[in-house]
Amino acid sequence: MKFLAIWGSPRRGGNSEVLLDAFLQGARQEGAEVEKIALQKLKISPCLEIYHCFKDGTCPIRDDMRPLYDKLLAAEVVALASPIFFYGLSAQAKAFIDRTQALWARRYQLRQDFPGAGRQGVLLCTGATYGKLLFVGARLTAKYFFDAINVSYAAEILVRGVDAKGDILKKPEVLEAATTLGRRLAQGERLEPIKLSPLAV
Ligand SMILES: Cc1cc2nc3c(=O)[nH]c(=O)nc-3n(C[C@H](O)[C@H](O)[C@H](O)COP(=O)(O)O)c2cc1C
Repeated sequence: MKFLAIWGSPRRGGNSEVLLDAFLQGARQEGAEVEKIALQKLKISPCLEIYHCFKDGTCPIRDDMRPLYDKLLAAEVVALASPIFFYGLSAQAKAFIDRTQALWARRYQLRQDFPGAGRQGVLLCTGATYGKLLFVGARLTAKYFFDAINVSYAAEILVRGVDAKGDILKKPEVLEAATTLGRRLAQGERLEPIKLSPLAV
């Protein structure tokens, strides 16, 4: 079982990374092959709306996004981990997602064959506050990202009230839930896709 983890925080060892690592630990325990991509180390331009991808499904921008397209297509589980920044995903995560428009184009514009069936996506998010709407933006973006790459939106762990580095360590039950989720997906369990309400509340 191949796991691809996209981690979008600029803060190493921060809450979303600890959460993601707990998830990946579970996957490794079950023998999954795990690759973790730290977006903060990569140079990924935002989408420049060249629309080259509508012609052949590829993006002409030569940067660190290039190898990630094939990895996204090969993964059986795609995990997206990000802090909440201004009620959305981090800029690093959003730039990466916008660049997957090239895969969206292959799927919906060019109607190319696309790996699918059984691939699953997971959203892991951390935020400082407790508002009801805290994860609405991130969930909607994740929904359409997972659809663009043809993985089902299988699970999410959304953690409120964690701000300082290490805050998430005070929530061992959350980390345990992440590890359990990683194990279940690595065992090949298919989860019922998450259906968001129109406002994703
Ligand atoms: C630029 C910036 C914007 C933020 N915006 C929000 C926000 O809108 N809502 C919130 O609850 N927390 C917000 N936070 C707090 C982070 O979401 C929180 O500290 C999170 O746990 C950080 O995860 P990390 O350690 O993985 O980066 C913001 C933090 C930063 C640096």
